[in-house]
Amino acid sequence: MSLLQNSLKNNVLPNLFPPAWLWLVDEAIPKWVKKSYSPQESWKDKPFTNEDAKFFSKGVEELSELFTEERPKGMPPYFQHPRYRSGYLLYFLPLQAAKFLTLYQTYPRAIDAALQFAKKEGVLRIADLGVGPGTASLSLLLVLLGRKLERGEELPPVELHWFDTNLSVMKDGQFLVEELANSFPKLRGKVKLFLNDLPWWKAPTRLPESLALTLMGHVLNESSAPKSETGLFWEEILRRSQGGGVLMVEPAARRPAQVLSSLRDEFLTSGLIESSPARIWGPCIHAGACPMAEGRDWCHFSVPVQIPGKWFRGFSEGLGSERQWLKYAYLWVASSEFPAPVSAPHLRRVISDPLGRGPRPEVLICEPEEAGRWTVSAHGPGERAGVMRGDLISIRRPSQVSVKSPKRPKGFGLT
Ligand SMILES: C[S@@+](CC[C@H](N)C(=O)[O-])C[C@H]1O[C@@H](n2cnc3c(N)ncnc32)[C@H](O)[C@@H]1O
Repeated sequence: MSLLQNSLKNNVLPNLFPPAWLWLVDEAIPKWVKKSYSPQESWKDKPFTNEDAKFFSKGVEELSELFTEERPKGMPPYFQHPRYRSGYLLYFLPLQAAKFLTLYQTYPRAIDAALQFAKKEGVLRIADLGVGPGTASLSLLLVLLGRKLERGEELPPVELHWFDTNLSVMKDGQFLVEELANSFPKLRGKVKLFLNDLPWWKAPTRLPESLALTLMGHVLNESSAPKSETGLFWEEILRRSQGGGVLMVEPAARRPAQVLSSLRDEFLTSGLIESSPARIWGPCIHAGACPMAEGRDWCHFSVPVQIPGKWFRGFSEGLGSERQWLKYAYLWVASSEFPAPVSAPHLRRVISDPLGRGPRPEVLICEPEEAGRWTVSAHGPGERAGVMRGDLISIRRPSQVSVKSPKRPKGFGLT
């Protein structure tokens, strides 16, 4: 087996955070939180200090507990409480935004597809469902700001169509987007925001007919649509998201990850998308049934990272230790007009960390069309160690591949 792609570790991370990142997390967010959530009027227009960090850390800690506990079936509407909105803005927004940045930079051609479609339409229309404070949209704007433009080239006008059942948190995000657009000439006067105080499954009633990209971040985990609404919702969202398709990101836990795997299988088997790997940017490189849609294991990824930001680091340490990993599950569906590249048949996605510590640790790989999951040795003789969850590897040299338990039934756990 040879290690073909270790993109997250070797290529993406050095450039993960665009230049405007620190402006967002160390200036704009703390300024807004202090102005809107300080208990005393006289504090509001002063700079954010260590005292403020201490004051707001309670909300961060309580929210962290709520998010890490086994989620109750219906999450409480936590954003109704200002303490949780401020906690989310200061800590969880940067954390989740970093996950979106990782994915935007892992799939730059999906972003190119969104921009090419926008060029044709004259506007980059983005839907962001369960938007919260605009996390996914803000990350995208940062990426656009960091893009090198040809001489005379400009970013297209941007329309953001936001949906959430909490208007207050969308208004927090509205401030941040407006502040961003006013602070950076490349985006000045270009961003239009539409706030919709509606559940995500109602989005097609308000969305334009065509979108350059649809984003859904950490929302399927805490809300499920009535059965009568879902079919039409997905049909409409997949039909309208024509440029860069639909990106869904969820926590790296079993239930939300398996929701994504099942949705993917349903899109493929129902014909909502053609049964081709070209309809999926990632993580899958095949269009067969997902071997992790049920059972003990689930498809998720972890990326080593140091998230820049003085306040973020402080909150992170307050929660126990500096955060060194981003963990998430995702599914990025491509549009039919802008298909994803199809990987060579000898490539496989690594879907586990190295198993064990020996000199030749093994990893699980995602095996298309096979009921079980296969295990291959993480590196052959003379090859360097360091294969990671998420890497693409070649299994072209079978002498170096040791296969374990290929015939287990679907959903059967493997260690
Ligand atoms: C964990 S936050 C994620 C926010 C943002 N997308 C992110 O990735 O940081 C989940 C968001 O989903 C919203 N939400 C929960 N149920 C919803 C529903 N049925 N329809 C729309 N939004 C919903 C919440 O109000 C909250 O803003």
